[in-house]
Amino acid sequence: MRKKLFAGNWKMNLTPLEGRTLIAALRAQLDRDSAALAADREVLVAPPFVTIPAVSQALAGSSILLGAQNVHFESKGAFTGEVSAPMLKCFGVTHVIIGHSERRHIFKEDDDLIAKRLAGAIAHQMTPILCVGETLEQRQQGETMRVVLAQLQAGLAAAPTERSAHLVVAYEPVWAIGTGHTATPQQAQEVHAAIRVALRDHFGKEQGDRVRILYGGSVTPDNIDSLIAQPDIDGALVGGASLKAESFARIVRAGMA
Ligand code: 13P
Repeated sequence: MRKKLFAGNWKMNLTPLEGRTLIAALRAQLDRDSAALAADREVLVAPPFVTIPAVSQALAGSSILLGAQNVHFESKGAFTGEVSAPMLKCFGVTHVIIGHSERRHIFKEDDDLIAKRLAGAIAHQMTPILCVGETLEQRQQGETMRVVLAQLQAGLAAAPTERSAHLVVAYEPVWAIGTGHTATPQQAQEVHAAIRVALRDHFGKEQGDRVRILYGGSVTPDNIDSLIAQPDIDGALVGGASLKAESFARIVRAGMA
C-alpha cells in the first residue's frame, strides 16, 4: 500500500510568526487524530526558507513532516541566493519540492538544472517531490503526455534506482495552478497512469509502484475526495488551500469516514 501524502506548498507566503500560528491551528485540528491519520497518510508543510526554523520549532512532537520549496545541488559555496540540503537538514527538513512550475516558468529553471537539484537532494538523503505539468497551450495542442513524460524522464535520469526509493512525483498542470480550474479526476488519472507506466519502466514494477504521484492545481476541500478516489492519485500538493488550517485539515482527511 502506498501511504497518501498531503503536502502544503506555502509558496512565498507566511512570515515566521504567521507560520507558527498556522501550525498551532493545524495541530489543533489534526493532533487528536494523528494515529488514525498515520495509518494510511502523511502530512507535510513546505514553508519559505526563512519561515522554516519557526515552523520546525512549532512542529516539535508532531508527525507533520517538514519540506522546503527548493534546494541547491552543492553543499556550500559561491551560489548567492541559494540554500543547501545540509542547511535545511539542520531544521529537520526531509522533503524538497523540485521543478515547481513557478520555478520553471518564472525563474526559467530548465530540465538540466532541475535534474541537478534532484540528484543533489537524493545524494543528501532528502525526499524530492519532482513537479511536472503542461501549460494550457500545450494541452490544447495535444502535447500533454509528451511534455509531462519528457519532464519526468529528465528528472528520473538523475535518480539512481537504488537510492531513489522515496521519490515523489507531483503532476501539476500549469493551467490549474491558482486558477480555480482544477483538472477533472479523469484528466488527472489519465496523466498519473502514464506517469506510473514510466516509473515502472525506470525503476521496475515493485519500486515503480511504490512512488507516490500527487496531484496539484486548485485542490480544495470540495474537489479532493473525487481526486483521491482515483487509483493513481496518491495525494495532493496544495497551494492556496494549505494556507488556512481548516481547509488544509479537511483536505488531509480526504476519503476518510
Ligand atoms: P494552488 O493549490 O494554489 O492552485 O497551487 C498549486 C500548487 O502550485 C502547489 O504546488
